[in-house]
Amino acid sequence: MQSAFRRVPQLGVAVVLGAWLSGCGSDSGADPEAVAVPVGNDGKTITASKDGITAFLQQGGYLTWTKESAVHDSVRSHGGRVRSYFNDKYLQARRGSSFPMTVGAMSVKELYKDPSLYGYAVAVKTRAGSGAETWTWYETTGLPDVPYFGVANPTCEGCHSADSGRDRSLTATVP
Ligand code: HEC
Repeated sequence: MQSAFRRVPQLGVAVVLGAWLSGCGSDSGADPEAVAVPVGNDGKTITASKDGITAFLQQGGYLTWTKESAVHDSVRSHGGRVRSYFNDKYLQARRGSSFPMTVGAMSVKELYKDPSLYGYAVAVKTRAGSGAETWTWYETTGLPDVPYFGVANPTCEGCHSADSGRDRSLTATVP
């Protein structure tokens, strides 16, 4: 499956859309050790479970992070319009090409149907080192449902593992 995604990335879109349309998703489970992941630029920690990430989003915990300058068309996935936010650990890794990222690196991608914010896609580095098991993924297209969640989530890995050596980070540039 994964090598098929690498060769034909569009397949990932079809799989994501198909899963949305049929109303199912995938949950590969939380990392049981990810109970105090330091994601805040001020050191704030979260539990990288479905509920822990949902609470962080609803509290707007990422809103002070560095963000893309405007809501823009999505490159090839993640719906129509998007805006990504990056915490300092994520930014420092990308700006300095220092990989793998450190535990607590996190990106939140807001998903828009103009003009409304309706969902979030999230990546959190929950374990040290490299590999699929070091990232927890989360995506909702309308809370309270979180159809895609978990460590090494296969849907997210389908594209994000083709990272060109940037520890699963796909955006072409960070702000
Ligand atoms: C069809 C391919 C594809 C799939 C599947 C996919 N992504 Fe992405 N994702 C991208 C691309 C391409 C970017 C960078 C361009 C952009 O920001 O639109 C990106 C960017 C992101 C970002 C911003 C950080 C970064 O890597 O640049 C997050 C967070 C993210 N995706 C989360 C997820 C989650 C969670 C899932 C699984 C539910 C997922 N993605 C599945 C292609 C994909």
